[in-house]
Amino acid sequence: MGRLDGKIALVTGGAVGIGAACARRMVDAGARVAIVDVHDDTGQALAVELGERARYLHADVSVEAEVAAAIAATVAAFGRLDVLVNNAGIAGPNKPTHELTEAEWDRVQAVNVKGVFFGTKHAIAPMRAAGGGSIINLSSIYGLVGAPDVPPYHASKGAVRLMSKTDALLYAADRIRVNSIHPGFIWTPMVEQHIAAMGGDVGQHRRDTAALHPLGHLGEPDDIAWGVVYLASDESRFVTGSELVIDGGYTC
Ligand code: NAI
Repeated sequence: MGRLDGKIALVTGGAVGIGAACARRMVDAGARVAIVDVHDDTGQALAVELGERARYLHADVSVEAEVAAAIAATVAAFGRLDVLVNNAGIAGPNKPTHELTEAEWDRVQAVNVKGVFFGTKHAIAPMRAAGGGSIINLSSIYGLVGAPDVPPYHASKGAVRLMSKTDALLYAADRIRVNSIHPGFIWTPMVEQHIAAMGGDVGQHRRDTAALHPLGHLGEPDDIAWGVVYLASDESRFVTGSELVIDGGYTC
């Protein structure tokens, strides 16, 4: 028996990084999984690798019609929707607030905040029809504490944290649970690009970033995926509105 046998899940931003690990671990645990992304070649290749219980769907999470179509296609293909992982996100430019343009600010909110809104909005009807569900939103340690870089990203992750709590209250009566996950630095393409953009000695930047975590190293995508499997499973049936912090002790 798998922990997610019979569950139907959709993960946004599932082509690489944390989202890909979530797709892989949810399939391993018995779920059928729709991988949604804009990175079509990589997403398609992952779905092929994971076999008949995975499917790739193109959608930009900042475009409501595309998100709605991806959720409808998942229900059409698999019959229902039990789990939504709102994972797609972008970091945005590393500039102080006074140098940011409105367009730079808006793009981060469009993907990181509106993307979660659109996913949640269109998941409610199929989850109600299924008798309940689990929505898992990727926030960040920077939805809990501040840092002197990427201001629109931190604002977006704070928003995701409180959207999760509000939706947890709104939909508890429908047995739809909504929780946020708060990762520390996880070694993915996003963090690789963030560290590379610092210039200079990339190895030293990586060691300095690792040292921010009391456990002394960066996380791996699977460290987050195991948390997602727990929140997707019935093992977490009494958990809603919670903040699952997986950060190597960063925010202690
Ligand atoms: P990543 O950049 O490695 O992968 C993100 C995926 O999302 C990519 O496949 C990308 O194509 C997709 N994506 C981006 N914009 C999209 C859009 N508009 N529509 C659909 N898909 C889109 O990112 P990573 O590191 O795997 O992060 C995943 C989530 O976890 C993000 O929400 C991120 O903010 C969050 N997070 C990551 C941390 C880290 O250290 N890697 C730490 C805390 C939070």
